[in-house]
Amino acid sequence: MALIQDWAPPTKEHYESILFIWKFFPLAASLQWLISWYGMGKTSVNSRFNIPGRIAWVTMESPGFLLLLYIMNTLPQQHGITDLPWQNKVLAGLFVIHYSYRAVLFPLMQPSMSPVHGVVWASALCFQLTNATCLGGWLAAYGPTTEAAWRAQLAPFPTAQFALGAGLFYAGLAANYYHDDELREIRRREIARLERVAREGGGRGGGVEKHYRIPTAGLFKILLYPHYFAEWIEWMGFWIACGVSCQPAMMFVVNEIASMLPRAVKGKRWYEEKFGKEKIRGKWAVIPGVL
Ligand SMILES: NC(=O)c1ccc[n+]([C@@H]2O[C@H](COP(=O)([O-])OP(=O)(O)OC[C@H]3O[C@@H](n4cnc5c(N)ncnc54)[C@H](OP(=O)(O)O)[C@@H]3O)[C@@H](O)[C@H]2O)c1
Repeated sequence: MALIQDWAPPTKEHYESILFIWKFFPLAASLQWLISWYGMGKTSVNSRFNIPGRIAWVTMESPGFLLLLYIMNTLPQQHGITDLPWQNKVLAGLFVIHYSYRAVLFPLMQPSMSPVHGVVWASALCFQLTNATCLGGWLAAYGPTTEAAWRAQLAPFPTAQFALGAGLFYAGLAANYYHDDELREIRRREIARLERVAREGGGRGGGVEKHYRIPTAGLFKILLYPHYFAEWIEWMGFWIACGVSCQPAMMFVVNEIASMLPRAVKGKRWYEEKFGKEKIRGKWAVIPGVL
């Protein structure tokens, strides 16, 4: 039985319609260049529509990979596909590995997270569901579903191209994790400092909500958002492994950049205002040597 008849999993016609609409997402995301408000993270403010950070992250990021898994488990049968090639399963596995971290481990590991406004939460949820429908549809039935189709998809060097893409994916994932962890470390250090002060009778332990410092490890030496840059490398690797003609994987990269680039550029301004231009001098926002 379908979760939503003809939509989840999607029929070919609905898959193509959703993919077509998905191509216009950068227009919506570019509104961020015009609007100064962003109800999340550093720029979150008090609002009755706020959702606590951890709950927001788990609930807005999990539906995507769960939907992709659901589509992978239902759509092939509807198209008479008894066993998908290993490439489809590996790519779905990479997607699930990333989101097991992003949607489940990441919110649990953060020492603290600012609240997320309901509007930002709803936009992220729509992003996840649309992206998972497009990628899931392609991986489960509407992309290559035989070994011969994969050879043609990644010609002339199918194994090398898949390995290169998967390698880039893992390098991006590792770098994304590493730089996320550097941000966590800032708050872990502050927790330890507050506890030390409390032990020495200098005050109460307390929390680290909204405690910010200028991170310095790894690519933070030259970038303010290396975790974003690393994530883009990760999904570019995924796209290469899918084959450059894979439109859902290409739109994932394009739409991530469209939604995260304004955040990084405005984030640089936020760092300059908070810590002073002098301390930020020489650091790019998100792309080394470019922006
Ligand atoms: N935002 C998006 O649109 C988006 C989309 C796809 C993937 N991602 C990925 O999700 C991850 C998190 O994204 P994000 O936009 O939330 O990143 P972010 O604004 O850099 O924040 C990441 C976490 O670190 C904390 N933090 C940020 N800067 C800090 C600093 N200078 N000192 C101490 N703590 C700091 C934040 O705390 P607060 O919450 O209290 O600010 C938050 O918990 C990244 O790896 C990114 O690649 C994000």
